[in-house]
Amino acid sequence: MQPTVIAPSILSANFAKLGEEVDNVLKAGADWVHFDVMDNHYVPNLTIGPLVCEALRKHGVTAPIDVHLMVEPVDRIVPDFAKAGASMITFHPEASRHVHRTVQLIKSHGCQAGIVLNPATPVDVLDYVLGDIDMVLLMSVNPGFGGQAFIPSALDKLRRVRSMIDASGREVRLEIDGGVKAENIGEIAAAGADTFVAGSAIFNAPDYADVIARMKAAVDD
Ligand code: DX5
Ligand code: ZN
Repeated sequence: MQPTVIAPSILSANFAKLGEEVDNVLKAGADWVHFDVMDNHYVPNLTIGPLVCEALRKHGVTAPIDVHLMVEPVDRIVPDFAKAGASMITFHPEASRHVHRTVQLIKSHGCQAGIVLNPATPVDVLDYVLGDIDMVLLMSVNPGFGGQAFIPSALDKLRRVRSMIDASGREVRLEIDGGVKAENIGEIAAAGADTFVAGSAIFNAPDYADVIARMKAAVDD
C-alpha cells in the first residue's frame, strides 16, 4: 500500500474564490487537489477546463493536481491539461475508443495516468492495462455531481481491485471518489483504497483541518 492521500474535490469549493479555497484546504492538510472536468456530454454537468488548472498553478499551487476527466472524446484535451500543470490524468474507458493509446498519450506528456471505473463498469478492462497505469480510480457514485451517497457495492469492488494490484506487484494507487466522509472512510480504507477524494465532506465543513485530520485518523485506525 502507498502512503495515504486525501484529495479534496474542488467541485464543492466556492468557485468565486477558488485560489483561496485551494490554499486553505492544502494548509489544512490535504495532499492533492482533485480537479473534476465535466463536459455536459459524457456526464450531465459542465465544470472547468485547462485554463482553471493553469490559473491555480499561476496562483502558486505546487501540490499535485489530480485531473479527473469526465469528457468525451478524451485525447484531444490531454495535451492541454499537461501544459496547464496536471500531475496525473484519469479518464473513463467508455469515453475513449483506444484505451491503451490514451494511457500512452497521457504518459508521453509527462503525467501519471489512471483509469476510472463507474459503479457498473466491470473491472476486466484492467486486465491488459494494469501494467501501464499509475492509478485506478473507482467511482462510488455515478459521475456528474458532488454530494451523492456512497454506493455500498464499491467496497467489494475495492477489495477485488486491491487484490489485482497486489498480484501485479506494481505500485498502483487505488483511489475512491464519491460519498467519502469521515464516518465511512475507515471502512473504505479497510477495503483497500489508499487515495481518497472528498468534495462535500470537506468543503461543506466549517473547519477543513478538523475534517481532514478526522479522515486521516480513521484511515490509520
Ligand atoms: C463526481 C466527482 C467527484 C465528486 C465528489 O462526478 O468525480 O469528485 O465531486 O464529491 P463528494 O465527495 O461530495 O461525493
Ligand atoms: Zn472526481
